[in-house]
Amino acid sequence: MMRKALLTVGIVLLVVVAGGTVFVASRQNLRFDATPYPGVTASTDSAVVERGRYIVRDVAPCAACHGDPKQRAAYVAGADVPLVGGFEFAIPPGEFYTRNLTPDAETGLGSVPDSAIGRAMRYGVGHDGRALLPFMEMQGLSDDDLRAVVSYLRTQAPVRNVVPPHHFNVLGKVVKATAMAKPVGPATTPPARAPRGKSVETGRYLVESVALCWACHTQRSQMTGAMTGPRFGGATGFTESTDPTHSWSPPNITSDPETGRLGKMTEDQFVARFRQGRLIPGSPMPWQAFSRISEDDLRSIYLYLKSVPPVKRDNGPPVVDVKKS
Ligand code: HEC
Ligand code: HEC
Repeated sequence: MMRKALLTVGIVLLVVVAGGTVFVASRQNLRFDATPYPGVTASTDSAVVERGRYIVRDVAPCAACHGDPKQRAAYVAGADVPLVGGFEFAIPPGEFYTRNLTPDAETGLGSVPDSAIGRAMRYGVGHDGRALLPFMEMQGLSDDDLRAVVSYLRTQAPVRNVVPPHHFNVLGKVVKATAMAKPVGPATTPPARAPRGKSVETGRYLVESVALCWACHTQRSQMTGAMTGPRFGGATGFTESTDPTHSWSPPNITSDPETGRLGKMTEDQFVARFRQGRLIPGSPMPWQAFSRISEDDLRSIYLYLKSVPPVKRDNGPPVVDVKKS
């Protein structure tokens, strides 16, 4: 009786494992070619290119991930390093590399059409039809900003830099076949024009769709990126592949009077803090870029963060030295 039951369980398990393996294997090369292309065409208008430069270099941390990994020190010091890609993310599902965004025809975006870059940013579908890894959570970029970003990327000098292919381990393959199988598109229809001028709306746009403050300042799963804590309530255990000796805790940035940073900062103090740039050496927050955000935009970010529900959550000190603890 017992043996028979065990045998049945064994067979069921075998079938499940075999079925799962086939399922996972069959879903490693999914393509989403039918996803529409947004109508993006690069402009050479200097105002459009300048807006693109501002988004790419100052507000959206593109260079934090796509900047030349060999020029990390220059980037941290505030230089506009070439966006040659190759930065490695060594995370539980595997090792992943950012792409070369310069116009080099062979190794960069030179032969990728404007509309395909637009589709990658907005719908999470790569130029080759793959669902992109969910690293770029800027699907909400407005039509005019998307065009500005592509326009700026086209003005860079082409740099030849071959980026290694991604490596998904067994766990990564399962995640790829399930949680990451579908491309991530925008939650709501992105605006045609980005909101400008000091307002909560401008702040919401920058925080949610461009500067991605929530992405670091919210506790998330290291495996899937799903949020596991309250929005803007801060996070712990944020380690960077460039410095595994430190564990960062992006603080709670809500207006909770006791545990939220914005509970203790006036609007002027918030702007002044951003102008100071990085104060804690090695902090992964792209302070050198954010210190250049315009006054109106910083004030808008403050107004928006003040408008979100306060969260009571203390994440401890901003950085822990892993060697000592
Ligand atoms: C948090 C890190 C991160 C940030 C910030 C980031 N990227 Fe990426 N980007 C990646 C990774 C990782 C990939 C590779 C994704 C893949 O192949 O699945 C990628 C891929 C791309 C691609 C290639 C898509 C394709 O067709 O293969 C483009 C274009 C791109 N990024 C543009 C940008 C721009 C423009 C910005 C800033 C507005 C930006 N990225 C910000 C990590 C990032
Ligand atoms: C790449 C991750 C990352 C992003 C993106 C990010 N932060 Fe941070 N932030 C951190 C970390 C880590 C700290 C703690 C270390 C430090 O103070 O530099 C921090 C600290 C802060 C502090 C406290 C600074 C102080 O001295 O008291 C504020 C305020 C803040 N972030 C606001 C923001 C806002 C607003 C945005 C979006 C415009 C943002 N952060 C985007 C990671 C990030």
